[in-house]
Amino acid sequence: MPKELIDAYNRLAADYDKNRGLFDMSAVLNDFYHYLNIGEGHLLDLGCGAGEPGPGFFIRKGWNVTGVDFSEKMLDLAMKYQPEMHRILADVTEVGFLPGQFDAATAIYSLFHIEREKHNQLFVNIYNWLKPGGKALFTYACKEYTGKKEFSGYITFMSEKLYYSHTTPEKLYKMLETTGFDLLSADYRDIGGERFLWVTIRKPE
Ligand SMILES: C[S@@+](CC[C@H](N)C(=O)[O-])C[C@H]1O[C@@H](n2cnc3c(N)ncnc32)[C@H](O)[C@@H]1O
Repeated sequence: MPKELIDAYNRLAADYDKNRGLFDMSAVLNDFYHYLNIGEGHLLDLGCGAGEPGPGFFIRKGWNVTGVDFSEKMLDLAMKYQPEMHRILADVTEVGFLPGQFDAATAIYSLFHIEREKHNQLFVNIYNWLKPGGKALFTYACKEYTGKKEFSGYITFMSEKLYYSHTTPEKLYKMLETTGFDLLSADYRDIGGERFLWVTIRKPE
């Protein structure tokens, strides 16, 4: 599955880049920034794509950003847009970082491409990589997008068949609670004509 998704994003990169303006992320990013309540820090962006809008937003605020993505073509764009971002070409389910290395983490429009059976381990990893009090923001797929309460399968996006996977919001919240996270917010947002669940969580102090 990753191989076909990597190939799809390598083919999509140029068109995705051209159409990014259709997705206005300013409200999401500003809301998360206010939750963080610290001027500068180190952000981990999982599925960073072309380095915009998330990494760019934080770099312009003076943050260090480490971005992970398994599409070489998306990372090439990131090198062009955000040369200051530390780029890692890897599957986010296979990377390792030091405990407490990051003040914040984001996974914007990326986590839903990972099998839901792997979400729990990824949340455990994010929990370990964050400092106490660190916060994370991620996009979660939902019935409003896939048409199913729980889903694992393919949906066509910009003429590519992409893999998506999610469980129900209730099971997601339980998983986050079991991991140790506090749930700060979970909002359905309509951005660029797509409805997803946007979730903000905190590792307790
Ligand atoms: C829809 S794009 C979003 C990119 C960027 N976050 C944005 O907001 O524009 C999804 C990105 O996640 C990456 N991705 C998906 N699954 C991944 C995985 N398991 N490991 C690394 N990157 C992944 C894709 O290569 C792609 O660049």
